[in-house]
Formats: sequence, structure tokens, C-alpha cells
Amino acid sequence: MINVPKGTKDILPSESYKWQFIEQTARDVAKAFNVSEIRTPTFEHTEVFSRGVGESTDIVNKEMYTFNDKGGRSITLKPEGTAGVARAFVENGLVSSALPVKVYYLTQCFRYERPQAGRLREFHQFGIEMLGSNAPNIDAETILLAKTLLDKLGVTGYTLYINSIGCKECRAKYHAALKEYLSENLDKLCNLCKDRYVKNPMRILDCKNPDCKEITKGAPKILDYICDDCKNHFEKVKSLLTIAGVPFEVDAGIVRGLDYYTKTVFEFVSNNIGAQGTICGGGRYDGLISQLGGADVPGVGFALGIERLLLLMENIGVDIPNFNKVKLYLAPMGDSESEKAFELATALRTQGIICEFDHMNRGIKAQFKYADKIGAKFVGVIGSSELEKGVIKLKEMATGIETEVAFNDLIEFAVNN
Ligand code: HAM
Repeated sequence: MINVPKGTKDILPSESYKWQFIEQTARDVAKAFNVSEIRTPTFEHTEVFSRGVGESTDIVNKEMYTFNDKGGRSITLKPEGTAGVARAFVENGLVSSALPVKVYYLTQCFRYERPQAGRLREFHQFGIEMLGSNAPNIDAETILLAKTLLDKLGVTGYTLYINSIGCKECRAKYHAALKEYLSENLDKLCNLCKDRYVKNPMRILDCKNPDCKEITKGAPKILDYICDDCKNHFEKVKSLLTIAGVPFEVDAGIVRGLDYYTKTVFEFVSNNIGAQGTICGGGRYDGLISQLGGADVPGVGFALGIERLLLLMENIGVDIPNFNKVKLYLAPMGDSESEKAFELATALRTQGIICEFDHMNRGIKAQFKYADKIGAKFVGVIGSSELEKGVIKLKEMATGIETEVAFNDLIEFAVNN
């Protein structure tokens, strides 16, 4: 037997309805916020991510699926959605379209990570990117969109943490202060953090190594170093969230694992799904578009991990509706009845009614058993007397109530029940 590669999963028919429900709800919420879909390629030139996500990140250093294609180009399977969207924005000249450009995506992502609950090598994101506006409104709107989706899905039991990591200028001052603070204990930092100390010291605050955690406990806080412009921006985002009734906590420890962030950063974190508790993360990235060769266009967005979201929904007992269940199972009792069932099923399906009938030559008892197994709402028996009278004998499986409906009225019955 050949197994799936480590860190990947099949989504089987018995669970795909959950994905469809989440995806449809996400699409509906995006639509209400006037956000349109964008689809970018599954793979990009490696440079999109090395320049976009950043050379100092775990993603670029350790986790990318990178290979040379047959033409000798370095290609990478997308580890996240933002850099590809930014590349598409620049390449397609969207800067001259009506700004802000508001897009969403539902996409696979690939990261070579150590698999565990909620952490896969192929996973799925619902992401939002709002490009072209500096206004704090759009940061708040982005966060509100994520919260609206979680509310619509019935998700509870998470905390929204927000922070501001400032702009290039104030970050430089902060990095200097942080480096000075860390310099005494530099030799005690893990090897990765020694590297981060040089490339992006703020990332040290996000290290899970217990020694590094201990050392950073009393470190200076970014919020004490941000400039007036960043401070005002952050204050406005917070007040808009408060107006919108979105509860949040300010956490100076939220620094995010990707290099492109500026100003607002945020994470929705749950304690109900184990160590990988961040279900959604995002923030502002005002330098990314120019970093990829575009104009000086700001952006803000988030991505929500669908596997983690599902894990949380299952753990807190959200009942996910299955809209794919069979409405009517037709149970013919012989060959001529079978032909009638085929004819009726075709008419019902043309009207979009989910309908099934016997394909296995089962006896009537076995057909009922099968109909029950697939969760059919009604079973319609067609025997020789029904065929003669032009009716179908319907049984509602949940209640056992039986009704007779004329063949000609079957569509109307199925639509109304
Ligand atoms: P990220 O924090 O790297 O941000 O990922 C966003 C979400 O994707 C995480 O919160 C998590 O739910 C999910 N995720 C990440 N890695 C894995 C994994 N290995 N297995 C399962 N789920 C995972 C980004 O990707 C940014 N592009 C978000 C963004 C959009 N920022 C601005 N715009």
C-alpha cells in the first residue's frame, strides 16, 4: 500500500461537506465586505517568497518546497498567500485600478514543518488582502472580517491579540534597544536566535526555546518605541475595534513569523486545539509591494488556517450542517419500476434536488438500510401497484410518516419538504 506523504491528508467524502460549508461561509462573508476572489499560481519563482516573506524567516530558511524545474528555474510551492498576491498586484498593474484592491483566496499552502496536531506540510488558508490604503479603518475592517467569519461559523473560545510593531524608522530604534538588552546574554541564545540577532532581532521574542524565553522576559517593549504616527494609527485601530464591539487584548509579544509586517499585527488564538493554537494571523505590510518591485502601496490582511479552524470547531462541538444529504431515495421493486425511478430521478436532479436510487440490485429491505446509512430524508417506494396508479409511496425516515404522492407532483413535494 502506498501512503500519503507525511504531513498531508485526504479530505474524504464523509468530511468534505464541512470544508464546503466553511468555504461557502467564507465566500459569503468576503462578499458582504466587498472583497473579490483572486487565484494565484500554486508555485512561484522562489524570489517572490525569499524577497517577500523574508530571508530571516523560518519559512524561507527551512520550510519551503523549492526545486529546479526542467528549465533550471528555481520554483517554490507557495508557503503562504500574501507574497503571490503582492506579485500579482505588481505584475498586473492593479495599482492603477480602483483602490483599495480587496481580495480573498482559498488556497493550499506548503511548508516543510514537523507535523503535529494542527500543523501539516500541505494545509489550507482562507486569506484576505486589502491593498492601497493606509487608513486604520481598513486594519479594523480586516480584523472585523475574520471575527465576522468566526461568529458566522459559531466559533467561540479564542482570544484576539493585537500589537503594533511600528514602521521602518521606529523599528530601527527598537531593534537597537533590544540588541543592547540582549547583548549581555548573546551566548546563551539558541543558534537560530543568534542569527536572528543579526538579521531581525524582534523575531527572538517569538522563540519557543525556554532559554531564549527566559532571556527575553524583561526585554524592552516595541510599544514604548513606536513613533507618533504609528502610535496614532494603533490607537485608531483599537478604538474602531471597540466601536465595532470586537474584544481584543494588546500583547507586545505578538511579532509574527514573517518579515513583511509593519504597524498593526494580530492573531486569533485558541487554547482548545493544543500547541498550534493560532487559528488566524495577519497584519499590515506597507513595504511588501515596493519590496517586490511595485509602487509604494500599503497593504493589510490575514490568513486563517482551515485545518486548525476545523479542529477548533470539532473540539468545541460546533454542529456543521451537511447540505449535501440525499433528499429523496427512490426504491424501485422491479425492472419496470427501476426505469420509472431512473426517469423520476432525472427530472428531480434537473431541478437540483439531491436524489438517489438503487444501483446495486438490492432487495427492498437492503435499499431502506442503505437509504438510512446515507441519511436520505425520504424513501420513495415504487412497486407494481404504485406504477399502475402513477404514485410513489414516500416514507419520511426520521418520523416514519408515510404519504402517497403522484409522480407528477413529486418535484413540487421535494421542493417544499
Ligand atoms: P501565518 O501566520 O504564517 O501567516 O499563517 C496563517 C495561518 O495559517 C496560521 O494562523 C495557521 O492557522 C495556518 N498555518 C500556518 N502554518 C500551518 C501549518 N503548517 N499547518 C496548518 N496550518 C498552518 C501567513 O501565512 C500570512 N500570509 C498571513 C497574512 C495575510 N498576513 C497578511 N496577509
